[in-house]
Amino acid sequence: MLGIIGGTGLAKLADLEVTRREIARTPWGDPSCALTFGRLDGRPVVFLARHGYGHTIAPHDINYRANLWALRDAGVAGVVSVATVGGIGERCVPGAIVVADQIIDYTHGRQGTYFEGPDQPVTHIDFTEPYDPDLRQRLLRAAQRAGETLIDGGVYGCTQGPRLETAAEIRRLQRDGCDLVGMTGMPEAALARELDLPYAVLCVVANHAAGIGDSAQRISLDAMGEVLSAAMGRVRVILSEAAREAESMPGDPSPPV
Ligand code: HPA
Repeated sequence: MLGIIGGTGLAKLADLEVTRREIARTPWGDPSCALTFGRLDGRPVVFLARHGYGHTIAPHDINYRANLWALRDAGVAGVVSVATVGGIGERCVPGAIVVADQIIDYTHGRQGTYFEGPDQPVTHIDFTEPYDPDLRQRLLRAAQRAGETLIDGGVYGCTQGPRLETAAEIRRLQRDGCDLVGMTGMPEAALARELDLPYAVLCVVANHAAGIGDSAQRISLDAMGEVLSAAMGRVRVILSEAAREAESMPGDPSPPV
């Protein structure tokens, strides 16, 4: 069973056949909202809206630890994150969908580990490749089957938000090698790794980042909304194909259909 975390513009999965909703409790507090169990074109998935169903939780206030813990407890074999981002790299234009392969973390003050507290040994995870290579390939194959074009690879710069960046901040991210900028990629990816959950991201480019292209003077929030609603239908088709393949992921209790 595939876990899906939906970001801005994807608080609900269109056409998800909901079988049940479950309010999960975790030792780390409450997830952003109830988990929605259902079938996407007949394939089992668990969906969680990262910002809550009413989009009320800002990126720095999300309980990432509870969200990943709840999905792990639900028995998912992997998690696909859908993340709305600004585009920095030349190919990362509004409407593009990118399967990022690297992260640079610019956030601060977020609860970024499960290994804390007086009785916990300090634990370092390997994070050389922050995204699961197999799950990334599954997404790329899923898109190919669905006839959708994805960009394979890109560096996701995770900023603190909730404000968007200045043009100078984006120039700095560009110098650092970032292709994309978003606010929720970390610590989500690192927590998934701590739990040994395969994790990958579908980044939906909603706008040119600050100071770039048609965002040279300002970022149009209205235009962002329009790009996102057009792209989410494509995301859904890719997720559905990925869920089909995810049914045969190792550790998955549900038999292939
Ligand atoms: N910056 C950060 N996060 C974002 C952006 C952006 O330009 N667009 C969508 N999410």
